[in-house]
Amino acid sequence: MEIRLAKTAGFCFGVKRAVDTVYEQAEQARGPIYTYGPIVHNEQVVRELEEKGVRVLEGKEALESLGEGTVIIRAHGVGKDVYELLERQNISYVDATCPFVKKIHRIVERESARGREILIAGNPVHPEVEGIRGWCQGPVTVLESLEEARKFTSSFQKTYCLVAQTTFNYNKFKDLVEIISEKGYDILVLNTICSATEERQTEAKRIASEVDAMIVIGGRSSSNTQKLFEICKKECANTYYIQKLVDLDIKTASSIRSVGITAGASTPNKIIEEVQFYVRNEF
Ligand code: F3S
Repeated sequence: MEIRLAKTAGFCFGVKRAVDTVYEQAEQARGPIYTYGPIVHNEQVVRELEEKGVRVLEGKEALESLGEGTVIIRAHGVGKDVYELLERQNISYVDATCPFVKKIHRIVERESARGREILIAGNPVHPEVEGIRGWCQGPVTVLESLEEARKFTSSFQKTYCLVAQTTFNYNKFKDLVEIISEKGYDILVLNTICSATEERQTEAKRIASEVDAMIVIGGRSSSNTQKLFEICKKECANTYYIQKLVDLDIKTASSIRSVGITAGASTPNKIIEEVQFYVRNEF
């Protein structure tokens, strides 16, 4: 059995930085440690951190009723209102927002202050997009599909700034930009897709097109893992989406001679190694 493990599989720079921050804080903790939302879309990591006393806070209400402790802001980032709330409540916090996401916050804050309406290519309910939205001073439109981009119309003469969720599919972004550009608006387009995602997607696509079966590892709610799966499935019908090793149920047909493995940005190395070890030894 030939195994092709993607070099870009697993934690990206921003997620590794955020997870390391939580472990460090948990080690030195003098009071309770909280993460604002799960630190990564990975149940195993969250559970392991829970065992170290790190609790997950969901929503602003949870912050409002917090009396003590330190809150860690995860790589996805949050809107300006959350920082204001933390400061108002005098809650100490550590900001582990990925610098690439922070950069988008700064762009939309600046461009919306200059009067541009912000367009975000992304998933409207994803926390990263909610966070970006929270730095805009004027109206914001989130475009998730090409259909939405086609239907988008400006009601009156306006200027726009288009950014992307860091994990947005690069090819889809290019198509979306083309559709929006044809409308002839004054639009500033900034490709804010993170190169970690792009590289992971390109590598996954290449490997999937060359193997008999492809395994994509990552949390069910991880948007970048879902996209990796979509990309791989197009290249290789035999693509499996698993969260951890026990989910793996490859139909071991004798025609499978090569297996590719990739993983989303929130998948710990430990799980990737387990899957690789299993495939190597059990097939
Ligand atoms: Fe940051 Fe890119 Fe990861 S934006 S969190 S390094 S996918």
